[in-house]
Amino acid sequence: MKAIFCERYGPPEELQLLDGPVPVPLKGQVLVRVCATTVNDQDWSMVNGTPRIYRLIFGLFRPRQPIPGIELAGVVEALGPGVSQWRVGDKVYGDTSNGGSGTFAELVAVPGTELRRIPEEISFVQAAAIPHALELAYQALVEIGKLKNGERVLLNGAGGGVGTFALQLAKQQGCTVWGVDTGEKLKGMTALGFDHVIDYTQQDFTRLGERFDLVVDMKTKRSPRELLRALAPNGRYVTVGGDPGRLIALLFARLLGRRNLHIVALKPNRDLDTLAPLISNGTLKPVIDGPYTLEDAPRLVRRFGEGRHTGKVVMEVGGTN
Ligand SMILES: NC(=O)c1ccc[n+]([C@@H]2O[C@H](COP(=O)([O-])OP(=O)(O)OC[C@H]3O[C@@H](n4cnc5c(N)ncnc54)[C@H](OP(=O)(O)O)[C@@H]3O)[C@@H](O)[C@H]2O)c1
Repeated sequence: MKAIFCERYGPPEELQLLDGPVPVPLKGQVLVRVCATTVNDQDWSMVNGTPRIYRLIFGLFRPRQPIPGIELAGVVEALGPGVSQWRVGDKVYGDTSNGGSGTFAELVAVPGTELRRIPEEISFVQAAAIPHALELAYQALVEIGKLKNGERVLLNGAGGGVGTFALQLAKQQGCTVWGVDTGEKLKGMTALGFDHVIDYTQQDFTRLGERFDLVVDMKTKRSPRELLRALAPNGRYVTVGGDPGRLIALLFARLLGRRNLHIVALKPNRDLDTLAPLISNGTLKPVIDGPYTLEDAPRLVRRFGEGRHTGKVVMEVGGTN
């Protein structure tokens, strides 16, 4: 089977499309024929080996698991021992980040528990764009952020996969939404429905003089003190990711009593069956950059890392869509 291989840490241009062995599904695993996959922050970090501390997870000197990719939509090809909830031919999707990686491939073996059934109305390309970003957005805004009707919400790092779903969840609640990202994305973000857009290279959202009920941050780069400055009296700040040092500072601030500062620990796929009807009926729409092909992976990982994408970068695999 064909797959994208990352044999050593370095620039994405060193990724190679090669033939590899067909994975054998172990106990509890399902072999999936991948129809679509996406690029995520984890792929950029794994390919580059940065921040270096992440090498403790990916492998000290080279990636232990050489195929990137954590998100997939595809068709069940074979079942490992002990799998009873799936049948060959089922259409499935999911975020496999709890069960390893390797979805930049024609075939991948993943735990059956990390998969969900794709509703009829949703294509493979759409399905691949949903699990990681929608779960992060939902868990940040609704579960942890306790989003309420009509609130003033600011999304920092708003033009990517999580931000574009977060916008839609907030608009569903009649909220006024500010979106912060880079200049060239702002026009597209206004078209998507943001009420106010801010270029982070020109303006600091913590110094706008505005106070927000909820700030959801995809790229935490500021100190707890700066972030608290942007919150209304009952405001909540929720981060899904950012600079490791800043996240540690947030954790300490929370431990020292700033209980309105929160960090999301993603529970992959948990709410997908509940949220999928909102995609099926058109209430929520994944914003898709692409679809491209697996051969495009080196330039797409670069495109993602440089933040030139909007929404989810999706690759079709094997022409089975
Ligand atoms: N909490 C968890 O359990 C968990 C699990 C998995 C992933 N994550 C994290 O979740 C996040 C995923 O978000 P995503 O998929 O939406 O990422 P994304 O598609 O890369 O979107 C992030 C956006 O933020 C922008 N950005 C970069 N630096 C910024 C800054 N200083 N201020 C404002 N905007 C900035 C980027 O654009 P430019 O680069 O062009 O500026 C990009 O448009 C990542 O931080 C990831 O590490 C968290």
